[in-house]
Amino acid sequence: MDSPCLVLEGLTKEFGGLMAVDHVSLEIKAGERHGIIGPNGAGKTTLFNLICGDLSPTDGRVVHFGQDVTRLPTYKRIALGISRTFQINNLFPKLTVLQNVLLAAQGLESMKYVMYRPISSYKFLYDKAKNILEDFEMWDKRDILVNNLSYGDQRQIEVCLALIENPRLLLLDEPTAGLSRAETLTFTSILKELNPDITILLIEHDMDVAFELTENITVLQLGKLIASGNKEEIKANKKVQEIYLGTEQ
Ligand SMILES: Nc1ncnc2c1ncn2[C@@H]1O[C@H](COP(=O)(O)OP(=O)(O)O)[C@@H](O)[C@H]1O
Ligand SMILES: [Mg+2]
Repeated sequence: MDSPCLVLEGLTKEFGGLMAVDHVSLEIKAGERHGIIGPNGAGKTTLFNLICGDLSPTDGRVVHFGQDVTRLPTYKRIALGISRTFQINNLFPKLTVLQNVLLAAQGLESMKYVMYRPISSYKFLYDKAKNILEDFEMWDKRDILVNNLSYGDQRQIEVCLALIENPRLLLLDEPTAGLSRAETLTFTSILKELNPDITILLIEHDMDVAFELTENITVLQLGKLIASGNKEEIKANKKVQEIYLGTEQ
């Protein structure tokens, strides 16, 4: 049988006595779309930081397609196909949309003297950037400074940056936070169109979006995995209703 895309084994992160992520074990199949929900401070972002390597765990393991990546630095995990977006804007505001995407693409190629050549000579990267921006209906906005984009458009560019890395596993941290209803709908339909081979872990505060985009959901609270299962199981789970859904009403 094929290896799962991601296996977390007893993953734990302690910050000076606070168990931000507390022995979380989880298995995500290749191509699965999986939601992570839970109240503020539940450990969702910390979990992402552990998966992508921005933090190292106090205990436990992260296994990506059968390979233990727990001790690998972030850039090596990106090379293996683990990409993430940030809850907070991570773009270069004084550069254009296209420049931001090309820079991300070039960063991956690790070519020497890349800045001394005209960007157009990197046809491959340029075409790739163009394809992704077209998918997001952003190609017409390529020459706009990121600073001058709407917040919703900036969030979409962040996903473009993560996609340029050809991820096998894409980690999206609250991508619809702060978006209007219309922007959220557009964004949701774009995500649904992404290559189904890409495994997606989605932290989402909007339950409608989480249920629409993912088949399985994991609920965290105070660092602990409270429940994990398909949407019906999660909706029917008493603990989830009390602990999470209850606080939402
Ligand atoms: N770098 C850090 N240092 C100390 N405590 C942190 C750090 N990052 C997160 N925390 C704490 O860990 C807990 C989980 O935070 P976080 O993962 O951001 O939760 P979520 O994304 O679910 O809102 C919170 O109590 C938060 O204050
Ligand atoms: Mg968070």
